[in-house]
Amino acid sequence: MTGNLHRPTIGVFDSGVGGLTVLRAIARLAPNANYLFFGDTARLPYGTKSQEFVARYSSAAARFLAERGIDLLVIGCNTASALALYDIKSAVSIPVIGVIEPGADAAAAISQSREAVVFATEATCASHAYQRALARRGFATHEKACPLLVPLVEEGWIDTPVTEQVARIYTIEALRTASSNVDVLVLGCTHYPLLRPLLRRVVPQRIEIVDSAEATACSLLQFLRGHDLTAGAPTYKFFVTDSVEKFRKQAPVFLGLDVELSTLEDVQRADLDATR
Ligand code: DGL
Repeated sequence: MTGNLHRPTIGVFDSGVGGLTVLRAIARLAPNANYLFFGDTARLPYGTKSQEFVARYSSAAARFLAERGIDLLVIGCNTASALALYDIKSAVSIPVIGVIEPGADAAAAISQSREAVVFATEATCASHAYQRALARRGFATHEKACPLLVPLVEEGWIDTPVTEQVARIYTIEALRTASSNVDVLVLGCTHYPLLRPLLRRVVPQRIEIVDSAEATACSLLQFLRGHDLTAGAPTYKFFVTDSVEKFRKQAPVFLGLDVELSTLEDVQRADLDATR
């Protein structure tokens, strides 16, 4: 996207509040932009749903954001990126970036052994989207569904003994089928970046941790090269399908403690059924 140098409006979509980790990573690298975030909080989790419903829900949300004039859409939700990227791309006529390819690129940039572990939701693992993306880069991949981590993070249990124990069990199970050559772990779910310090203690030191949210932010900068995205202050509008109050309460954990209160001023309820 070069030649069109106005300050861009970037849509970020997620099944809920977790995608704020992706928004945060992007807005840090690209503050000179307007952000519209859509969290489908009434219908999360997507990570346990079938392809049909993930595709239907995320395409409707993508159209909702496209109708509000975004220049580009980031699918922050790993499950939607894994199961429905092509459906979403055909639902809108703007460029769409998912998180799987950037995550795989980031893993490829640091791995020597070409053997990776991916932690993700059940639906993302069952789709094997990460496995295929990493196979194209020469990897053998061990996918591990970690369903308990999403509710633990949403409960705010970011650094508790219970969460550490759960993460330890998932890690042991994931590495049981892997060889000792694994040198990279991809965090393939919006909620897991918040657990990165905890995972760093749990996962063997030889394994580097790759965060798809950060990788996606880098790939967005690449996509929007030609825009000066680095100097300026972001603006934010949030749309959620369930309670605005609940979103306001949960959001700061995902956006980070450095979030300014004014960031969450403009949160609106989006009623998708009423718009189609
Ligand atoms: N946003 C989802 C993902 O990144 C996690 C939460 C959910 O299951 O909806 O896969």
